[in-house]
Amino acid sequence: MLDHAELQVRRAHEKSLYDGTGEDRVVEVVEKLLDAICPAILDLRPTMDELNAALGYVAKLSELDVRLMSWAFGINQIVEDLNSPLGPDATVNTVQGPFHIADAPTTDSGAPIGLIEADADILVMDGIVRDLAGQALAGVELDIWCADRNGEYSQFAPNIPDFNNRAKIRTNADGSYRIVTEMPQPYALIGECKLLLERMGRQIWRPRHVHFMIDHPGFESLITQVYFTGDDYTSNDCVIGVKDGLLTELKRVDDPKLGFDRPVLVAHYDFALQPAAKAEQAA
Ligand SMILES: [Fe+2]
Repeated sequence: MLDHAELQVRRAHEKSLYDGTGEDRVVEVVEKLLDAICPAILDLRPTMDELNAALGYVAKLSELDVRLMSWAFGINQIVEDLNSPLGPDATVNTVQGPFHIADAPTTDSGAPIGLIEADADILVMDGIVRDLAGQALAGVELDIWCADRNGEYSQFAPNIPDFNNRAKIRTNADGSYRIVTEMPQPYALIGECKLLLERMGRQIWRPRHVHFMIDHPGFESLITQVYFTGDDYTSNDCVIGVKDGLLTELKRVDDPKLGFDRPVLVAHYDFALQPAAKAEQAA
């Protein structure tokens, strides 16, 4: 009967097969994973039919399926946190997710970043971008993307104009920015990731949020998302992306000075960017 002691003998033999000409990092990664997977397989005691079903399942996954699973099971978050140089005073990072598209059009701060239908719930979100000393930063580029009123992303769902709800804006002279968009709605994961989570009894929805990628010379890049207090799914986000410090209040405000003839949803969020030099010192 194969047991863990015998498995270790087989593992040692497998490791003896390398001739030293391989790529060290590839060997390290594969062997580390095998050291975890092989004992788990022994404990799980799958039948051959189960193994073949599992291998067939993996073989049919699309790239997006795999990326969503990495996100949903917290793997991306581990890697991002491992590589983040941000200290406790900077705005916290969180997962980029798979829906960013490079080269979004440049838009004036305060201009709508996508279609706004006549009956749309409108989000007006503003704030200040500062350094860690509290100094406002002018001309900072914010690359913004968010889902639409149906919880769908342009370039990923049909019948949405390219770059809808995607834009790059720059902060004003006082460091302020303003985003105007249809209120992004929650969205569920899709494809095999969705089906797998459902089979496991995990909810599949993300809370409403806006994504930010902020790059400014002399500062660490910040990739994050802003969420809204009291929203559904902030406590059980299916991709574990909600962190302390990324929640802000959402209020319905009727103020013609905001530029709309009906009440809109207003949120405020300030960003603190970490100077690159501090990250280098800490490293
Ligand atoms: Fe998103």
